[in-house]
Amino acid sequence: PAVAVVLGTRPELVKVTELLRLLGPEAHLIHTGQHYDEQMSGRFLGELGLPEPDYLHGVGGKPRAGQLAAALEQLDERFAAAPPAAVLVQGDTNAALAGALAANARGIRLVHIEAGLRSHDRAMPEEHNRVLIDRLADVLCAPTEANRAALLAEGVADERIEVTGNTVVEAVRQYVPSAAERAALRARFGGLPADGYILATVHRPENTDDPDALRACLTELRALAASGTPVLLPVHPRTRARIAAAGLDPLLDGADGDGLLVREPLGYAEFLGLARDAALVVSDSGGVQEEVTVLGRPLVVVRRSTERPEALGDFAELVTPGPALGAAARRRLAEGELGLRRLALLPSPFGDGLASERIAALARAPHAAEFTAAA
Ligand code: UD1
Ligand code: UDP
Repeated sequence: PAVAVVLGTRPELVKVTELLRLLGPEAHLIHTGQHYDEQMSGRFLGELGLPEPDYLHGVGGKPRAGQLAAALEQLDERFAAAPPAAVLVQGDTNAALAGALAANARGIRLVHIEAGLRSHDRAMPEEHNRVLIDRLADVLCAPTEANRAALLAEGVADERIEVTGNTVVEAVRQYVPSAAERAALRARFGGLPADGYILATVHRPENTDDPDALRACLTELRALAASGTPVLLPVHPRTRARIAAAGLDPLLDGADGDGLLVREPLGYAEFLGLARDAALVVSDSGGVQEEVTVLGRPLVVVRRSTERPEALGDFAELVTPGPALGAAARRRLAEGELGLRRLALLPSPFGDGLASERIAALARAPHAAEFTAAA
C-alpha cells in the first residue's frame, strides 16, 4: 500500500477515521498497541468501521522509552520489508513519535497531522513528542493559522506547511447522535437531564500522577454533584490505576448517591452525545477541547497550559485542580440556557470539516518541498 498510518491510542483512531475511509485500500493501518483495552481500542475500531490493523506486540503498558523502542524496532522491520510511499502520524503520542522515527530512519516521506501545536510545557511528554515529529516531518498539516505561525517561528520552511483544519471536526459531525438517540443515552446514564449535568474526564499525568491533584479533582467533582448538578465521570484506565495506587478509592465511596456517576470509558458516539447535552464539560483532554467547539458546549480545562489556545475565551477556560475548578464550573453553569445558545451559534476555530480531504490529497501527492533523510 502507498500510505502507512501509524497510531496507538483512542484519540488517534477517532481523528484518522475519515482519512482512512478516503484513502481506502491505499492505506495500511498499523496499531502499535499503546492502548490495548477493548474499551480504549477494539470497540473504537468496530464503532468507527476501521479496517483490521496490523498490530505490533509488547508496546502497551511499558514506560515511554520502552514503548518507543519496541514500536520503532517492529516498524523498521515492516518498512524494510515493504516500504510505503508515505507514513502518516497524528498528534503527539508515543505511537506517533515511533512512526515518525521509523519513517525517518528509512527515508520515507512523513506526513504529520496536527502539526504546530505547542503548550510550551516541557514537563509534558506530548510536547517533546510533537516538537520532535515536526522536526522530522516532510509535510506538516497545521490545523490552524496559529499552528502555522508557531512552526514558522521555529524555522520550519513555509513550503512544508499546509493549513488543513483539524480532522476532529468531521469526526464530530459524522458521529454525534440525533436528539432522540441522545435522550435514550441520557436515560441509560441515570436519567441525566438535558443541559443539566456535567461530563468530566481526567487522564493527564499532571492530574493523575500527583495524588494531591487527583484528590482535588475528585473532591471538586463530587462537591459539584452534591450541590445539585449530576456529574458523569467515565474513567480512563490510567486514572483508574492511579486512584487505586494513591489509595483514593474511598473518595468515590457512595458517589452515585451524591450524583457523581463514576463509569467505564464511553464509546465515541456515546461520549459525543453526552457532551452535546451537558451543561458543562470538565476535562484535561486535548481532543475534547476541540470537540466542544463543534458541539457548542462550555468547557473547564483542568490543565496548567494548553496547546489549543484557540478554544480559550468563549468556549474554554484553564484552571488548576482545586477550588478554582469548582468556582469556574459554577460560573459557567450560572450562564444557563442563554450561555449555551450563544455558544451553539459560534463557529469552531478548528476547521471547516474538510481537513481529511486536504490531508488525503497531500498524502497521495508528492509535496513540493519533499525532503527525506537518506536511509
Ligand atoms: C496517552 C498519550 C496521551 C493521550 C492519551 C489518550 C503519550 C505520551 N500519551 O496517554 O497524549 O492523551 O494516551 O488517551 O503517548 N492503560 C491501560 N489500558 C490501556 C491503555 C492504558 O490500562 O488500554 C494504562 C496502563 O497502566 C498504562 C497507562 O494507562 O501504563 C498509561 O498509558 P499510556 O498509553 O502510556 O499513556 P496515556 O495516559 O494513555
Ligand atoms: N472519548 C471517548 N470516550 C470517553 C472519553 C473520551 O470516546 O470515555 C473520546 C473523545 O470524544 C475524544 C477522544 O476520546 O475524541 C479523546 O481522547 P483522550 O481524552 O483520551 O485523549 P487526548 O485527546 O487528550 O489525547
